Amino acid sequence: MTEFVDVKNMTRWIQRDGVEPIMASMVEYLEADFARWEAFDKVARVASHTPFGVIELMPTSDTKEYAFKYVNGHPFNPARGFQTVTAFGMLADVDNGYPTFLAEMTLLTALRTAATSAMVARRVARPGAQVMAMIGAGSQAEFQALAFRALMGIDQLRVYDVDPAAVEKLRRNLQPLGFDIQEAGSTSESVVGADIVTTCTADKARATILSSEQVPAGVHINAVGGDCPGKTELDPELLRRAKVFVEFPEQTRVEGEIQQMAPDFPVTEFWKVLTGAEEGRTSAEQITIFDSVGFAIADFSALRCARDATAGTDLQTYIDLVADPEDPKDLFSLVNTLKPVG
Ligand SMILES: NC(=O)c1ccc[n+]([C@@H]2O[C@H](COP(=O)([O-])OP(=O)(O)OC[C@H]3O[C@@H](n4cnc5c(N)ncnc54)[C@H](O)[C@@H]3O)[C@@H](O)[C@H]2O)c1
Repeated sequence: MTEFVDVKNMTRWIQRDGVEPIMASMVEYLEADFARWEAFDKVARVASHTPFGVIELMPTSDTKEYAFKYVNGHPFNPARGFQTVTAFGMLADVDNGYPTFLAEMTLLTALRTAATSAMVARRVARPGAQVMAMIGAGSQAEFQALAFRALMGIDQLRVYDVDPAAVEKLRRNLQPLGFDIQEAGSTSESVVGADIVTTCTADKARATILSSEQVPAGVHINAVGGDCPGKTELDPELLRRAKVFVEFPEQTRVEGEIQQMAPDFPVTEFWKVLTGAEEGRTSAEQITIFDSVGFAIADFSALRCARDATAGTDLQTYIDLVADPEDPKDLFSLVNTLKPVG
């Protein structure tokens, strides 16, 4: 039987442990896995594009466990009453290939994306960052804010979204949790005085949400929304001015902000900063950018974190996914209607 965490139980886990403690724990899993980056099988995700959006499969494995995630990205969905991003995924035992853990991953993806953003920012943003601009206040936004507070103590937000109702929703969700939230009338207004700028918008377009002139020296940009071909948020000139950190370059060069740049545009793989093989930020004036697209190893870490936290509790149920006859060569026995009765 495969352990299973459905939406109801994922929600119960997050409510039981709290988003911020989970972020702190998930970052430990992420750092442990990013630090052994070379131990993983890595491949850019397999994407099926349509005019409506994208559906992707994201696999990875080490010598013990295999993981994959199914995830979609449909920017026009909210206008039709559906979410932009939904996901589910699983872990399997590399030894016999059997699935061991299956989980909803819409919530888990929001947690892992935000935890990954905060993990990177903690290493490469200027020390002492206090104010974050948030451009885009959709589904991911509250999780991003909570991750940055849990990991870096940031509780002052300057929020802009083209949809004022989204900003109002964010305020309703986060103000009671103690955030200082200022609504901005434009992108330019939101970035004034910000140490970190998170761009997390959804549009299947080569948009320029943030132009180079809007960004002063020393800012860290957490660029989350540009995550598939033909979908970007940053001005190429801003990329040229900055030091750019990525997850898996082979995937990011196709899907990330750097799809706008030449194939040899210099990037730093974040796992190398974590292990000390490469430098992070090298001066207080430097602009740093995390060109986040979401890589399979982060899902591997998130699944492990959720599995371990829910193990042995009623947050896990079991799902019968593998037809497993007593005689492994006699699969037909399971459907054989000629079996003697009794
Ligand atoms: N990098 C990753 O690992 C990762 C993971 C999950 C989601 N994403 C991406 O993050 C983005 C946001 O996801 P979501 O689930 O929050 O989507 P969402 O649709 O719930 O929210 C997006 C918000 O962006 C706003 N917006 C659109 N254009 C804007 C503009 N020009 N200026 C300001 N606001 C604008 C929309 O009004 C909406 O409120 C998506 O593009 C998604 O694909 C990336």
